[in-house]
Amino acid sequence: MPHRTLRSAALLAVAGLGLAACATGGGDSAGSSSTSAAGSSAATYTPKSGGAGGDVGVFTWWAAGSEKVGLDALVKLFKEKNPNDTFVNLAVAGGAGSNAKAKLASDLANGNPPDSFQGHAGAELSDYIAAGQIEPVNDVFNALGGESVFPKNLLELITVKGNIYSVPSNIHRANVVWANPKVLSKAGITSTPTSISAWIDDIKKVKASGVATPLSIGGTWTQVQLLENVLISDLGDAAYKGLFSGETPWDGDGVKQAVNDYKTLMTYTNNASDGDDWPGATDMVIGGKAAYNVMGDWAVAEFTAKNAKPDTDWTWFPTPGQEKVFDFLADSFTLPKGAKNADGSKDWLLLVGSADGQKAFNLAKGSIPARTDVPASDFPAYQQAAMSAFKSDAIVPSIAHGAAVSLAWNTDISTAVSKFHASRDANALVTDLAAAAKKNQQ
Ligand code: BGC
Repeated sequence: MPHRTLRSAALLAVAGLGLAACATGGGDSAGSSSTSAAGSSAATYTPKSGGAGGDVGVFTWWAAGSEKVGLDALVKLFKEKNPNDTFVNLAVAGGAGSNAKAKLASDLANGNPPDSFQGHAGAELSDYIAAGQIEPVNDVFNALGGESVFPKNLLELITVKGNIYSVPSNIHRANVVWANPKVLSKAGITSTPTSISAWIDDIKKVKASGVATPLSIGGTWTQVQLLENVLISDLGDAAYKGLFSGETPWDGDGVKQAVNDYKTLMTYTNNASDGDDWPGATDMVIGGKAAYNVMGDWAVAEFTAKNAKPDTDWTWFPTPGQEKVFDFLADSFTLPKGAKNADGSKDWLLLVGSADGQKAFNLAKGSIPARTDVPASDFPAYQQAAMSAFKSDAIVPSIAHGAAVSLAWNTDISTAVSKFHASRDANALVTDLAAAAKKNQQ
């Protein structure tokens, strides 16, 4: 199947996600499991009690810090439920998979796949499906409860031609500004900005109050995520989605405005090298070295790990101009073709997709469960707010985190953003983004 079809399906599914979350009421059944593509296979997997046995090698980029705490929560449950299995941690450090994806690509190409690997639901997962590198897991999905426990439209992101290709572990929000309340108060900022230009005015106030780098950034992918946020605000959710369907030009006035705003924002940041990871940027906020950081809500886990308290040491708001928009991504686990321990892999997938697994993992990770039957009241205030926003907001796909664009397109956008970091040439960035779209959009 050509990429176009896969990606269009992914975008359609993202367009309908908010609807699905509303329809499920956050906890009710989404309906019969036999009507959709996802539910077309009736097969159900019955695992061996105590696990299949043998090594189960799981590849992620949750190698350290707060992300490892999330992985550890899953591993603890996995070991309890599968005493016969031996979990083998194949994590490769580097936020957003910045190093892991290259290693994974070479392992897959060399016929040395892990038993399961982390990927992003949407266009990125479509890459692996199109390359024939992952197997359907309909039987596992049905054993987990199928459409009665996962939002139908999320399932469309991981379904191709009636087959489910992964088990989602979580839903992250990528359009959040994390802020230091004390720094804002010192700068005399008492209300939350609702447009990029109003936010830039506040950033100027922070700078005038003596903070040299009001907005913190990390390496290239964090800058891609910042640019993605400005694009959503300046274009609006519908035109932003049009960037991936081909309806919105990458060299039109909307993108030019966003790139100029991005250029202005980048004059208020710290210096960052390509490889700088994200915790350094979020820690600048709680340490008072910056007022703001745009980051996915894995930041909550980092704040918790650093013992920083909500409302006192950090606060948050949706990126200005996105008060009713949820920039979405979902981590999702696969069964690679040629996995040495496919049954052990299924033990892992069953754990990742279980209500217990999703509660333990998401409590530790800052994200919200992909399942609809984990009660919101089990989660702290930030995640409750995210669950509610996911039900009512317009859902858009993240560029930096694999929901909107293929791996190759993401690489080209990252190259353009990295080049801009050195040149600060807005016209060249627009030209490079348009060229990347022309090359990769199918
Ligand atoms: C993943 C998150 C992870 C973040 C930073 C994202 O691409 O989806 O799970 O915490 O990268 O590494």
